[in-house]
Amino acid sequence: MHCVRTVTENLYWVGANDHRLALFENIHPIPKGVSYNAYLLLDEKSVLFDTVDWSACRQLLENLEYLLNGTPLDYLVINHMEPDHGASIEEILLRYPKVRIISTEKAFMLMRQFGFHVDGHECIQVKEGDTYSFGDHTVTFVGAPMVHWPEAMVTFDTTNGVLFSADAFGSFIALDGKLFADEVNFDRDWIDEARRYLTNIVGKYGPHIQLLLGKAGGILDQIRYICPLHGPVWRKDLGYFIDKYDKWSRYEPEVKGVLIVYASMYGNTEAAAQALAAKLCERGITDVALYDVSNTHVSYLIAESFKYSHIVLASVTYNLGIYPVMKSYLEDMKALNLQNRTFAIIENGSWACKSGDLMQAFIDEELKNMTVLNERLSLASSLQADKAAELDQLADALVESLQEDLEN
Ligand code: FEO
Repeated sequence: MHCVRTVTENLYWVGANDHRLALFENIHPIPKGVSYNAYLLLDEKSVLFDTVDWSACRQLLENLEYLLNGTPLDYLVINHMEPDHGASIEEILLRYPKVRIISTEKAFMLMRQFGFHVDGHECIQVKEGDTYSFGDHTVTFVGAPMVHWPEAMVTFDTTNGVLFSADAFGSFIALDGKLFADEVNFDRDWIDEARRYLTNIVGKYGPHIQLLLGKAGGILDQIRYICPLHGPVWRKDLGYFIDKYDKWSRYEPEVKGVLIVYASMYGNTEAAAQALAAKLCERGITDVALYDVSNTHVSYLIAESFKYSHIVLASVTYNLGIYPVMKSYLEDMKALNLQNRTFAIIENGSWACKSGDLMQAFIDEELKNMTVLNERLSLASSLQADKAAELDQLADALVESLQEDLEN
């Protein structure tokens, strides 16, 4: 049975939702699922924009069969060929052998590399600025390299103002019937998962997102719909989400507040983290989030790190080093290019307290444009009353730094 939605006149969502996949890219948990979006334009020619993950292929085929109603599929535009979107290309070619494929040179190269048998079909290679007409609708192809693979492009339909934005403006969470961002409470229910998607999947490529946003900025008044490959379609309040993307890709915090991430073996470092959180709230700083690094998937920590302006790292010393999961979190920050944050450090060690210096060295030497506050809380096994002054000084320093940020 088909399951489609109308985007706008003659344009349909023909994708599918996935609640079975536990780990996106086999690494990021997706407890609320994900959608694989594909779109069908029925003009003088019929055009399928992208395909879906192999697990969703059957739904895509049923949707196409219903809407095409016995007519052929004329074109397949591939904006992004990564297998979560491209894995069904070959099945489309088998079902619609006369379909002509439109994509970039690099995408065709990668399709062959992945073993998608596109040769034998008409492959139309396009580049930045090329246009194509399907009847009433004319589209322009725009390069979007590294958003999120090097072959990616986006396609802008100049007739109806639809931007097929590939991975850009995507989000985790299955659509479950709701297609448009204005059909959900996005700011309440979706923004955290949208942030987690962007920062973990494309976070490293902020400058490339900025390039794409620059191109989109030139035609902003013409964009009426943004149709990404995951998550809802945007037709209202586009500026809200564009602004989020702009902040995330410039590594600018959304919130002046404090993220506290602790690594604790027996609860003593956690107790210090909790005491600091309470001190901050006592001082009126209530935008405080606190996580145990050992039982929080690092993708959530990365998303929160992109959100908050100040990050407190509280870690025990382990084998004379940083606690392994805390080290892994720091490595992810580096890999995903996080910048422009203010850090504070709580360290703990029962006989050789090393974690503070090591975390500071990592921040100074491996990360970009970071500040570490001079005030540091050093613990020998547990937080005792004699450390009250140090704890207060750390809280005061964070408040002062936040206030400086708020004034700037
Ligand atoms: Fe959803 Fe880069 O693929």
